[in-house]
Amino acid sequence: MAIKGKAPSASSVEQNVYKVFPNDLNSKYTVFGGLVMSLCDRTALIVAERHSGSTCVTAAVDSLNFLAPARAGDTLIVKAAVNRSWRSSMEIGVHVAAEDSFTGNTRHVVSAYLTFVALDDSGKPRSVPDVLPETKVQKRRFDEAQVRRDGRLASKRR
Ligand SMILES: CC(C)(COP(=O)(O)OP(=O)(O)OC[C@H]1O[C@@H](n2cnc3c(N)ncnc32)[C@H](O)[C@@H]1OP(=O)(O)O)[C@@H](O)C(=O)NCCC(=O)NCCS
Repeated sequence: MAIKGKAPSASSVEQNVYKVFPNDLNSKYTVFGGLVMSLCDRTALIVAERHSGSTCVTAAVDSLNFLAPARAGDTLIVKAAVNRSWRSSMEIGVHVAAEDSFTGNTRHVVSAYLTFVALDDSGKPRSVPDVLPETKVQKRRFDEAQVRRDGRLASKRR
């Protein structure tokens, strides 16, 4: 029997770490934004595939805000969790921090919301388990995700 619902903690990625080297930098010697976007997408994909138990594709990326630059030598720490699911789609929230390995100081670099769709063997969208939020924070994210989805689908129709 298919699983009816799963808690976000069952699929979350608590710490995906990436050490920044000089070949990760742009011409201003800060981390190339595309690298951070790729890290967000890959980490969120892990969450979506854990939650759904299926192959998933990225359907949409919204609100990817670069809040501060990361630099050579920093360690990027990526956290991701599923906020809410609908029939075949899931919203995954991602948080990226840059850590100075010598001092342990961290800066919030990026927050993003990504939507993934689970696919069946023939490549068609398939249903996914509900998200069962447990904590106050997870419940807030669950409620806010519906508002974001409504906006996302409205802007897709425009
Ligand atoms: C994402 C994709 C599978 C959706 O397929 P589709 O034929 O539009 O299927 P549907 O209309 O049934 O939509 C499936 C789900 O995706 C959601 N969806 C589709 N586009 C979306 C968007 N831009 N934002 C949010 N959700 C979206 C729908 O709301 C639906 O969700 P639900 O089942 O939870 O209600 C299809 O558009 C696709 O394959 N896109 C390319 C994906 C890809 O290659 N990603 C990598 C990019 S490099």
